[in-house]
Amino acid sequence: MAESGGVSARIVVFPGDGIGPEVATEGRRVLEAVAHRWGHTFLVEEALIGGAAIDAYGTALRDEDLVRCRRADAALLGAVGGPKWDDPAAKVRPEQGLLRLRKALGLYANLRPVAVQPALLDASPLRPEIARGTDILVVRELTGGLYFGRPSGQWVERRGRVAVDTLVYREHEVARVAHLAFELARSRRGRVASVDKANVLASSRLWRTVVTEVAREYPDVAVEHVLVDAMAMHLVRQPTRYDVVVTENMFGDILTDEASTLAGSIGLLASASVGAVRDERRGWRFGLYEPIHGSAPDIAGQGKANPVGMLLSVALLLRGSLGLEEEAAAVEAAVAAVLASGTRTGDVLTPGSSAATTSDVGAAVVARLAA
Ligand code: IPM
Ligand code: MG
Repeated sequence: MAESGGVSARIVVFPGDGIGPEVATEGRRVLEAVAHRWGHTFLVEEALIGGAAIDAYGTALRDEDLVRCRRADAALLGAVGGPKWDDPAAKVRPEQGLLRLRKALGLYANLRPVAVQPALLDASPLRPEIARGTDILVVRELTGGLYFGRPSGQWVERRGRVAVDTLVYREHEVARVAHLAFELARSRRGRVASVDKANVLASSRLWRTVVTEVAREYPDVAVEHVLVDAMAMHLVRQPTRYDVVVTENMFGDILTDEASTLAGSIGLLASASVGAVRDERRGWRFGLYEPIHGSAPDIAGQGKANPVGMLLSVALLLRGSLGLEEEAAAVEAAVAAVLASGTRTGDVLTPGSSAATTSDVGAAVVARLAA
């Protein structure tokens, strides 16, 4: 950080696959607009990940690009994956790049805010009276559980093929993400819902025990335990009941796609993956920021992708890793104003209006930031 005036920061951008490059382009434009208006210097380096990296290098993430992240203040990612690399027998898979990035950088918590923009109530597939006022922060455990448990694989036995994945959680993995959830609840409405499947899974019973223990250190925060199947229902019946929701990796993956319908479209949601690496001197931490949507190969390259999830991820990056609260709030306000003005991609269109392109939406946000 510079002594006075603007900050200087290194940001690695991984456009990835499908619609990833299109939304990443808009993310970079907004970063540039912020740098310009506030006098910051953002050193942006692009790197390949996922299918794009497999095609270029034969691996979903190169060691040297991981090293670039370690030297950077933050990383921004579009999306990974696509039908081209979907062969179940393939040895290298696009998703491995993203999972490696999360694991190697120790990003054990994925924060996914689910809020309903008032202007978009009509875009939600749920009735407005259900969606209105939703303001949830999902804290998804990101480096444990089924995604990383060993053994994991497929082999042949006498009676046919068999495959296994392992759902394993260690006490410290549950405790650290639980602490983060309780800390975050303190700066919100003071409520944590911990989601598990403790009636069936041993890993969930450990999860529930550890969360209960951690909760004792936060007597000012209310805690409840909810079974994941029931949560899938509550989320679309009574979403306003929830504040912070903390859960294991795969439950969080599934529940946040579901929760995105509350906001109107999965294209609207942003996320921040954070971990232990914190720069005490500067007071910020490295993070990986990405929209929660996938690579949407069916609409890739057509200018149809909603860049809002990416632009809100840029806001989370500015706030979370660079400590730039004013800039982050300005990006969020610009996005809200653009959506309210009716400049929207097809996934959140108001009946009767015509769809804006990915770059129309990005340009409108940039214009508001410059104004
Ligand atoms: C997400 C995605 C990823 C995940 C995939 C692409 C590996 O669905 O970030 O939610 O499952 O974590
Ligand atoms: Mg997902």
